[in-house]
Amino acid sequence: MQGQREVRKLKKKKRSFILESLAIRVQTGSAMNHPNVITPLGTPFIERTVGELVAERPGRSRVFQSFGIDFCCQGAKTLSEACQKRGVALDTVVEQLEAEANGPNEVIKNPATLPPAELIDYIVEAHHGFLHREFPRLHVMAERVASVHGGHTPSLIQVKEVLNSLIAELDEHMEKEEQVLFPAIRTLVSGGSAMPLDGPIACMMREHEDAGGDLAQLRALTYEYDPPAEACNTYRALFAGLADLEEDLHRHIHLENQVLFPAALTLAANVVRS
Ligand SMILES: [Fe+2]
Ligand SMILES: [Fe+2]
Repeated sequence: MQGQREVRKLKKKKRSFILESLAIRVQTGSAMNHPNVITPLGTPFIERTVGELVAERPGRSRVFQSFGIDFCCQGAKTLSEACQKRGVALDTVVEQLEAEANGPNEVIKNPATLPPAELIDYIVEAHHGFLHREFPRLHVMAERVASVHGGHTPSLIQVKEVLNSLIAELDEHMEKEEQVLFPAIRTLVSGGSAMPLDGPIACMMREHEDAGGDLAQLRALTYEYDPPAEACNTYRALFAGLADLEEDLHRHIHLENQVLFPAALTLAANVVRS
């Protein structure tokens, strides 16, 4: 009897040990090795963790990235600890986080109403500027997410490849617009005669279609930019960044295809007639 009781005790001990280890494994797996500490309600902003600040508002990842603050693997650090570790001024980071929440200072309500030369300025500043700022950080995040999680989610490797090809295509595309097409349109606006625009515009529109195809692929590969519940902060920030990229690029292409290019072709036709 005594022996049987001992065996039962041992079995019970072993079962609870197995259950405990499983629980630890589930916890570790669910955080994908990037612990995300949630601070209690009412915790002052600077004492909240950088991981939770990004999870709450993915746009904050841009600010952290610009200061080199790791919000992913070091996401459990509080904002003040993270700033101290990077040697950056806490006040400056808080200021930038507030500015991010308030959005750009100057919002043009409807850029489609701008005359062609001003519309070009707007496109270069707002949309080309956005891509030049976003591409480096999206590239870094896509490489990192693919290398850490691509083993069990191969679609993340495709995300990285499609994104890299989109970046290469659009960098070249924007250069052609800024160096060749837009100066030619400006010449027409100021009354001069420029090279024929039909060919270059048709070429730009074909490249817009290719970019649209890449965006559709990214949307499908990311299940409409919906990260899994257990995704780490970089994973989430990448998907949120890709969703923003799609939104901005759609507006950008719309302004060029439907507003700027038709206006430029009308100007060119008027120069030929006069
Ligand atoms: Fe453009
Ligand atoms: Fe374009």
